[in-house]
Parts: sequence; structure tokens; C-alpha cells
Amino acid sequence: MTNTNKAVLVIGGTGMLGKPVAQQLKADGFKVRLLARSIEKAKSIMGDGYEFAQGDYEDTESLKAAMQGCDGVHINVKGGPSEADYERADHFGVKRIAEAAKAVGVGRVTLISAYAVSEEKADTPESRSKVRGEAALVSSGVQYTIFRATWFMETLPIFVQGKSISLIGNQIHPLHWIAAEDYARMVSKSYQTDETLNKEFYIFGPEALTMGEAMKIYAEHAGVKVAPISTKMLSVMGALTFNAEWKSTATLMTHYERWGEDGSPEEANRLLGTPTITLKEWCKKQTKS
Ligand SMILES: NC(=O)c1ccc[n+]([C@@H]2O[C@H](COP(=O)([O-])OP(=O)(O)OC[C@H]3O[C@@H](n4cnc5c(N)ncnc54)[C@H](OP(=O)(O)O)[C@@H]3O)[C@@H](O)[C@H]2O)c1
Repeated sequence: MTNTNKAVLVIGGTGMLGKPVAQQLKADGFKVRLLARSIEKAKSIMGDGYEFAQGDYEDTESLKAAMQGCDGVHINVKGGPSEADYERADHFGVKRIAEAAKAVGVGRVTLISAYAVSEEKADTPESRSKVRGEAALVSSGVQYTIFRATWFMETLPIFVQGKSISLIGNQIHPLHWIAAEDYARMVSKSYQTDETLNKEFYIFGPEALTMGEAMKIYAEHAGVKVAPISTKMLSVMGALTFNAEWKSTATLMTHYERWGEDGSPEEANRLLGTPTITLKEWCKKQTKS
């Protein structure tokens, strides 16, 4: 292995999209350290083969201590559903991590972000915080790579409630659904070349399906029915039941009704390898695992 002397700190490595990245980095021969609020919990999720550093991305000193000796830091944080919490995680969390990495002399910081993250399209608390987080990373002066990923296939099961999967809003845009496994391979590959430094990459999967088409495929696999609901109805239901998650999801899905994928995956695919896993293949893998 050529990567055995390189160490990467993963922040949010126990998360849905952080765990596959940590696993892939480890499989590719990197030393992987995980920042964990609870080392016991992180060990039970991740298993053996990792270093663990006690810490919290709200605490600069714990970040700097965890980053000692690291060549890279991968950020997988998630805010919400309140506006203040998106700011805490996606903006100020990213800013604090990037500034700590610069101070410690880390070689590069990689960050998961999303498409439609631009000043023009920042029409929700989440997208505004992501725009500010990306800007804070760039202006920190540390070398960076940003992954503007499309919708992950792993998100589909989250929309299942009982015997149905909720199709929220009029989602007309074709989306190149990506498997976390493909994305993780691309993040790990980015650490293996300097051509990826100081760039934003669009991470899109191999085939375009509207959300309705993707949900139909997943529904057949999971044995559930697709249940359409308007963003307005979900927002009203959220307000009536004081359910902040529903209200926030309605806002998020209004954003995606409006904005389709932007950017081109061409450079990411050329430098990091083209993703191959289709939604049907991904569904089959879920059955096996
Ligand atoms: N779903 C999609 O299709 C999609 C597409 C593009 C981008 N994204 C973005 O991907 C990002 C990651 O999503 P995800 O689903 O992987 O999130 P997630 O599962 O909620 O993971 C969040 C991680 O952060 C850790 N964490 C939380 N607070 C922390 C703190 N104060 N200090 C240290 N660690 C802390 C959590 O660890 P513990 O709780 O175990 O401590 C967990 O490992 C989000 O920003 C999301 O917007 C998602």
C-alpha cells in the first residue's frame, strides 16, 4: 500500500455518509483517526482498525489535539432542523475545523457539500449555511477539496414510514443518484493526488432518475407504496403538530422542487473514477447485507 504513512482525521465518521469514507480510507491503506464525542459509542459503530480521538467540533482545542500528525481532515457534519443549528454545524463547525487545520498545518481538508450551493440558489437555511461553510473553508487558507454531491441512494429508506415512502412535492428534476460506496471511493482517491487540491467537484451517479422514478424502484425493492404529498401539506402538518423536522423537510423539498442538479461531474469522474453503482444494483446489495 502506498498510503500507509498518511493519516486522515474523519469528523463525523460514525455518520451515514462519514462511515463509508472512513472505511474506504482504511481499506486503501490510510491511518484513519476518528473524532468522537463518545469513543465507546464510536468503537461500537466502527469496530477495529481505527484510532479514536476524544473531541467535539465545537471545541477548538480538542480539534487541534486530534489533528496532530494528520495529513488530512475529512468533514462530514450535519445541522438542522433549525436555522441556528444549520449555522452551528454547516457554517461555524466547518469554519472552526478549517481554521484549526490551517493552524496545525494539516495538508488538506475535504468537505461534503451539495449541489445548488451558491449565492443565487441559497433560498433555505441549510443551503445558506452550506454556502457560508464552503466560503469559510476556502478563505481559511488551508488546501481543500469540496464534494458537491447529489442525492444519495442511502437517503431513500429515510422517507419510508410504515408501508409507504413519501414523495414530497413536485420533484420534476432528473437526479443522478449516487451510492455512498462510490462517493467514498472518490473521496479516498482525492487524497492520492495533488490534482484535486483547491477544487470543487460535482459528484453524480451513473443514471438520471426523477425522485418519483427512484422511489418507485426503491418501493418495489422494499415492498412499500409511493405516497405523494405536497410540500404545502407537509408544512401545515408540521406547524399543526409542532414538528420542526417536518417543517424543515418541507422547506428543503421546496428548494429541490426549484433547483435541479448544476455543475458537471466530468472532472470528478476523470480524476476520481466514474461512479458505476445503479439504483437497482444498490437495492440488490441491501438485500444481501
Ligand atoms: N443525504 C444526501 O443525499 C446528501 C447529499 C449531499 C450532501 N449531504 C450532506 O452530508 C452531510 C452528512 O450527512 P450524514 O447523513 O452523514 O450525517 P449524520 O449521519 O447525521 O452524521 C453526522 C456525524 O457528525 C457527528 N457529530 C455530530 N455532532 C458532533 C460534534 N459536535 N462533534 C463531533 N462530531 C459530531 C455525529 O457523531 P455522533 O452523533 O455519533 O457523535 C455523526 O458521526 C450533511 O451535511 C448533508 O447535508 C447529504
